[in-house]
Amino acid sequence: MARYMYTFVLLITTLQLFVRYGVAQSAQVPCLFIFGDSLSDSGNNNHLASIAKANYLPYGIDFPLGPTGRFTNGRTTIDIIGDHLGLDSYIQPFSNKSHVEYAKGVNYASGSAGIDPQTGTQVGQRIPMDKQLEHHKQIVNKIITDAGTDKAAMHLNKCLYSVYVGSNDWMLNFFGGGTMKYKLSPNSFGDDLIIRLMQQINKLYNMGARKVIIFGLGPLGCLPPVGPMGMCSPYANAIIEKWNNKLKVMVETLNSQYGDARFIWINSIQIITKDLKGLGLPVRNSPCCNVMSLACVPLSKPCKTRNDHAYWDLAHPTEAANRVLAARAYRAQQPNDAYPMDISSLAAL
Ligand SMILES: *[C@@H]1O[C@H](CO)[C@@H](O)[C@H](O)[C@H]1NC(C)=O
Repeated sequence: MARYMYTFVLLITTLQLFVRYGVAQSAQVPCLFIFGDSLSDSGNNNHLASIAKANYLPYGIDFPLGPTGRFTNGRTTIDIIGDHLGLDSYIQPFSNKSHVEYAKGVNYASGSAGIDPQTGTQVGQRIPMDKQLEHHKQIVNKIITDAGTDKAAMHLNKCLYSVYVGSNDWMLNFFGGGTMKYKLSPNSFGDDLIIRLMQQINKLYNMGARKVIIFGLGPLGCLPPVGPMGMCSPYANAIIEKWNNKLKVMVETLNSQYGDARFIWINSIQIITKDLKGLGLPVRNSPCCNVMSLACVPLSKPCKTRNDHAYWDLAHPTEAANRVLAARAYRAQQPNDAYPMDISSLAAL
């Protein structure tokens, strides 16, 4: 009987470890770690002294849990990708200290943050990329404590890592003139950012990341502060396109540098198309919610036709727009949507 009990206990323990550190039944990956800004934030800014917050209605009006700090009406792009991957729950923000399932992934993204630690100062507190990586280090250490070094490494190697960052470095810093004391050319500004981002991705690799998604930026030239919403500036979009190409070259470099890891690049600007028409959403020149500065007015009534609008507020897409990007990032529809492969192929490696 004692022996039977022992086997039973052992089985349960193994099962628990399997569930936490093995591949979950239906999910294509056991874990997803998320880095970036308000395009991915799921609540990290809620307790910061910042004006970049979204934990009030009408934000989250179409999200199953209501307002959570997501900067859109429903799911973010990475939430939807998580659904395509068959994840059984949304990835919790790092700020949720009571969450114990961190081995399945953590969301470190923070509204108004960027690659450059200075980016977003005018908006208030935020968690820049370097700090997000420090938070990831804390989580990695917890996983090592739980599972031991070898099992932790095996687990971390199988996870997907999403890096969708840079919009604020361009919008708040470069075009917005936020903290830049002197204006560099877009090319040198981009080169400086790439050097920083490369160091950040190297850190991520050193903490066990082997499947990394790098999102290119959308058509930021169609947004304020560049011009009125929907009035796309070809000049600004050309700058963003050059930046996206730098990201693609970085991905090529990383893939040749690390034979045991795969980095992919998502061609967001092509998927959305520079003039937003590719989204197939008829309303592209006004936000769905009533805005004050860039954000929705608290408790205001948003538009009813949320599946027709490309933009939710003055800086963020609707879930409808996020669905288009997520679907083609997950499974490419055109040859250059994702390079050198899409997310479904990366997950299957
Ligand atoms: C934090 O995580 C706990 C445990 O998983 C969960 O029950 C709770 O809803 C989460 N809190 C928030 C604000 O999401």
